[in-house]
Amino acid sequence: MVDLNFLIVDWEVQLFVLVVILAHLYIYWKFTSVYKFFENQNIQGPKPKFFFGTWFDSRSKFLGDEDISLTKQYGKIVGTFDGITPNAVITHPDIIKQILSLSADKFQDRRVSTTRNPVLRKSLLSLCGEEEKEIQSFIATHITEEKIQKLLPRIESSASTLTHNLTKKIEENKTINLTDHVEEFIEDVIALSLFGIDLNSDGEFRDEFISNVSQIFNVRNPNSYFALIPFLYPLLQGDSWIIPQKSLKFFTDLIATGIKETPRNSPVTEGKAAHLIDILVEASEEEKKSVKKEKEDENPKLVLTDDVIVSKCLSAILTLVNAARSLILFTVYELAKNQEVQERLSEEIQRNKSDNINCADLKNCRYLDKILNETLRLYPFEFRIEKICKEPITLGPVQLDKGNKVSIPLFSLHRNDEFYPEGEKFDPSRFDTENLEKRNPFTYLPFGQSGLNSCIQLGVLVSKLTVYKLVEKLKFTKSEDGDQKLYRTGITGVPQPENLQVSAELRAK
Ligand SMILES: *[C@@H]1O[C@H](CO)[C@@H](O)[C@H](O)[C@H]1NC(C)=O
Ligand SMILES: *[C@@H]1O[C@H](CO)[C@@H](O)[C@H](O)[C@H]1NC(C)=O
Ligand SMILES: *[C@@H]1O[C@H](CO)[C@@H](O)[C@H](O)[C@H]1NC(C)=O
Ligand SMILES: *[C@@H]1O[C@H](CO)[C@@H](O)[C@H](O)[C@H]1NC(C)=O
Ligand SMILES: *[C@@H]1O[C@H](CO)[C@@H](O)[C@H](O)[C@H]1NC(C)=O
Ligand SMILES: *[C@@H]1O[C@H](CO)[C@@H](O)[C@H](O)[C@H]1NC(C)=O
Repeated sequence: MVDLNFLIVDWEVQLFVLVVILAHLYIYWKFTSVYKFFENQNIQGPKPKFFFGTWFDSRSKFLGDEDISLTKQYGKIVGTFDGITPNAVITHPDIIKQILSLSADKFQDRRVSTTRNPVLRKSLLSLCGEEEKEIQSFIATHITEEKIQKLLPRIESSASTLTHNLTKKIEENKTINLTDHVEEFIEDVIALSLFGIDLNSDGEFRDEFISNVSQIFNVRNPNSYFALIPFLYPLLQGDSWIIPQKSLKFFTDLIATGIKETPRNSPVTEGKAAHLIDILVEASEEEKKSVKKEKEDENPKLVLTDDVIVSKCLSAILTLVNAARSLILFTVYELAKNQEVQERLSEEIQRNKSDNINCADLKNCRYLDKILNETLRLYPFEFRIEKICKEPITLGPVQLDKGNKVSIPLFSLHRNDEFYPEGEKFDPSRFDTENLEKRNPFTYLPFGQSGLNSCIQLGVLVSKLTVYKLVEKLKFTKSEDGDQKLYRTGITGVPQPENLQVSAELRAK
């Protein structure tokens, strides 16, 4: 007998090879047909590459600059691909209006849509303004400015420590490593103003706390191809760069303990420094009482549940680590470069100074507002606002399908010479009323994904008070040590300030 077994094996091998070839052909066909998406609609854009789409060459570059050159080269609507997902990059104000306002319900926030952890998801929903309406309106009516004002003494205490730390550097004739100092300050503010924890009282906890804060918005090896993959194919751990599981647990445990240990039935007394958990727990107790009275129900349904408090605190942490840090850093950096602006601010502060600074005092500082507005224009704390289409939609000349993306690149929108003459120049007078009126409001989206919601307001408040306290005592000047690098390059998730330095001197009393 002739052994025919080898034929069978051979046949299996052949089948296997055939399947592999077909799979390759399918994948190749899939990619190339997807990559015709914008070409078929006559929308210009860079040439996509297999698997990476239009991101292949973005490694090791600063994405803000990349977006600026993308718009310069291809115009106000650019066809790009995140992996195999078409992504229309838009800087046309009328279309932006359609995305963010007129047809807002046809889009979903990209970050939320790829986040599966329920706690983090809730926080991101709150940050991008897509959380349930009843929570939004509860926060808006119950967490009033008066309540938030009770945080000021703690924020002020951290700001004073920062000023003190900088003063020491001045006495040693040293250049100030702003990036370093503001980072320490943010850690201090989070611990003290959100949780009421003094980091200096417990070295071991301090190390743990700081190591976990540093995990937030931290992409490892941002200059490698691997860093791209979760962003292009979000099913592969798309949210872990926002905050890793372990650190998420560290913070949610910390918040839960804070909620448990906050005394009930003792209102946050006037004048006593409160932290954010105090304020939220107090508001939830008030809600319980008023709902019980109304419904005479022992277990009524509440809006401000412990879960909501946890997600709100987490949103506040994310905001401080990213938005407030970036805003404080770049404001001081620009003040050091623009002495007239700084002097005018210093005069405003001297005129408005009071012993117990409150929200109203800060509101009076209109010029400070304009300075922050201008800083947020030049240095937005997000690269892009990114949305996913919930259904097919036509945006100007481009037709998008369900699941496609739209992106509004903030660096390129905010620095466009057409909307902002001499777009790279720092000039707070762009926010004078008469200049504001001349501009389409959809050319300025300073609060990124978030809009001006309660958390961002807290971030702005912290930044404002800090800049106020710093400029009250110190005069910043440009550092003579060259080689400052504003941003880290690569796939960093959010813009990451890198190495900003200034010099300073004490202001005469
Ligand atoms: C700082 O510089 C000033 C003048 O440049 C000098 O008089 C002073 O001794 C220096 N202080 C230190 C601590 O180096
Ligand atoms: C400033 O601090 C940052 C953060 O710690 C550090 O990465 C950087 O190297 C420092 N820059 C200088 C010039 O020391
Ligand atoms: C002030 O400096 C100390 C010592 O370097 C540091 O531990 C602390 O975090 C700093 N605090 C602030 C608010 O910058
Ligand atoms: C975060 O906190 C945990 C404690 O819950 C600690 O074990 C860990 O070392 C901290 N740091 C990081 C980077 O996870
Ligand atoms: C605060 O400063 C502004 C000038 O920027 C001034 O118009 C305003 O009157 C001042 N407010 C007070 C209470 O002094
Ligand atoms: C400028 O910033 C303030 C907060 O600091 C904000 O209330 C205001 O709306 C901003 N102006 C514009 C035009 O967005």
